[in-house]
Amino acid sequence: MISRRELLGAGALALVTPSPLSRTIPLDFRFVHMTDLHMRDTAKAKEGIRMAVSRVLALDPRPDFVLLGGDVGDGLMGGDEAKARKTFADLAEELKRLEMPVHAVVGNHDVVGWGAPGAGLSDDPLFGKTLFADTFVKGPLVRGFDHKGWRILLLDSIQRAAPDSKTPYKSAIDEAQLQWLKQEVEGLGARPCVIVTHSPLLTGYFLYNDGPYVEPQFRMVLENAKEVHELLKGKNIKLVLQGHTHVAENLLYAGRQHITSGAVSGSWWAGPRFGIDPNGFSVLDVEGGAAKWAYVPTGMDLGG
Ligand SMILES: [Fe+2]
Repeated sequence: MISRRELLGAGALALVTPSPLSRTIPLDFRFVHMTDLHMRDTAKAKEGIRMAVSRVLALDPRPDFVLLGGDVGDGLMGGDEAKARKTFADLAEELKRLEMPVHAVVGNHDVVGWGAPGAGLSDDPLFGKTLFADTFVKGPLVRGFDHKGWRILLLDSIQRAAPDSKTPYKSAIDEAQLQWLKQEVEGLGARPCVIVTHSPLLTGYFLYNDGPYVEPQFRMVLENAKEVHELLKGKNIKLVLQGHTHVAENLLYAGRQHITSGAVSGSWWAGPRFGIDPNGFSVLDVEGGAAKWAYVPTGMDLGG
């Protein structure tokens, strides 16, 4: 069994209030949120993801399920179908060792072809999100499921941008999803709810990366975040699980914890993100209608 100290690492997580990761008191349940795996055809990426999977399997108690927060692939918007196929096949092979259900949301790096030179909308079924959906979701990208009295909602936060945009995608919840989300949260009743999105609904990223009054370098957050916040107001949302920034962060707003689960790849396999956040993932312990968060380093030294 992995000791609590080993799981939490030293220093970097001093401000995190961890859940006690080795439990004798039974929990309602435990689950894992791991995001931004950035699988590449390198020994480092494969070993790093293998170590993350091993850490999940060493948790005691075991998580009931794993949520993948997107960017499981790396740079696939460039449109190389062969690369996309190999990346997803390599990752699926590593994830096979997980013995619990795995549920994935899509990230910008998982979308094939939107950024390829001259790419337009295509009839090719591999174009866009299809290969990701076929490999890791096997159904609609936007969906929900119940687990032990909780409701988990999985969103698609990556939309096609206008042709003259800096990036081929934008972070947003589209109109159809907003309608679906409204119905879902209005029908929650007493069920506490977890929302999973790749691009954040709430983050302080701009404050420490750009500065409070500087035009952000990247449009990291959902562009219609305000509308989503309005829609969730007063509803029984306990957690919003996020990725995209590779920062480990937990912001409490409107009774919800908005947790960004760092990145399994750290700073894209080049060290800790901003020299702070180690490569790792989140463990959520659910007990009595509330969830406690711990950020767990994978234990792989990326240097940097
Ligand atoms: Fe990422």
